[in-house]
Amino acid sequence: MIKKAVIPAAGLGTRFLPVTKAQPKEMLPIIDTPTIQYVVQEAVDSGIEDILIISGKGKRAIEDHFDRNWELEALLNEKENKKLYNEMRHIGDMADIHFIRQKETNGLGDAIRYARHHVGNEPFAVLLGDTVIDTVIPATQQLIDIYEQYRQSIVAVEEVPPEKVSRYGIISGKQVSDRLWQIDRMVEKPEVGKSPTNLAFAGRYILTPGIFDAIDKTTRGKNNEIQLTDAMTLLMRHESLFAYVAQGKRFDVGNKMDYLKTIVHYAIKRKEFAGEFKAFLKDIVGGIDEK
Ligand code: UTP
Repeated sequence: MIKKAVIPAAGLGTRFLPVTKAQPKEMLPIIDTPTIQYVVQEAVDSGIEDILIISGKGKRAIEDHFDRNWELEALLNEKENKKLYNEMRHIGDMADIHFIRQKETNGLGDAIRYARHHVGNEPFAVLLGDTVIDTVIPATQQLIDIYEQYRQSIVAVEEVPPEKVSRYGIISGKQVSDRLWQIDRMVEKPEVGKSPTNLAFAGRYILTPGIFDAIDKTTRGKNNEIQLTDAMTLLMRHESLFAYVAQGKRFDVGNKMDYLKTIVHYAIKRKEFAGEFKAFLKDIVGGIDEK
């Protein structure tokens, strides 16, 4: 059973400057809820009980968000705003949440290295703190179900348009079934036309504890960082690695265009906004068409 998850959230978020200069990108609001709260909710909905958030410089707001806010609770209680009071209490009680600080932003592989003692000798889930996936079955749950069958590390992948492969980490390998692949190679940002597939990493992983030794052996790669992809390549020397085409719609909130799409997607799904917001969108899109 997979009961622990790691959420790396220590990155600098340079693609989202200036807002990320003094604020964590993982706290970017999807309307009224920080991105990372969606990520924690996905973990909890997948049966995870213990979460380690990899935090870092300038990321205090994440810790505060998952802590209790006594003053606010007392005020809401006084005003008899039970609904908001319960919502605020729920955030602090979602799971057993722990924090550790990555001392330097040396890449995703390095961030995961910090989880070694907390995770111990068990397989664990990794959910990128700036990525949300809207699904019926939580993406992490989908990976856990596959893990229960194969007992090997699994990465979630998604199909991306062939002309956009050069933006992503891409896998290649042998197709085992409709959505499952056994990976033989991973390529970071291949040139268009030279990519083995159009299956890109989707920000969710189940990793066996063997990844920690692999990370220790991984030297600095792209951007002079310890890349998780390089560590997984080393892991493949001893263990199989699978890729699962997860169901759902993924949003990389750390990228400005995807962030805009995320807000629109979730606004349309919210009953209290859907009607007026759709009318507003039709209006402006109509206006654009006419120009
Ligand atoms: P990204 O590569 O999207 O994060 O990492 P980044 O480095 O912050 O992004 P840009 O390119 O500068 O805009 C994916 C996830 O891994 C975390 C990030 O916080 C994000 O949630 N991460 C990345 C770490 O925890 N530590 C790192 O050293 C790098």
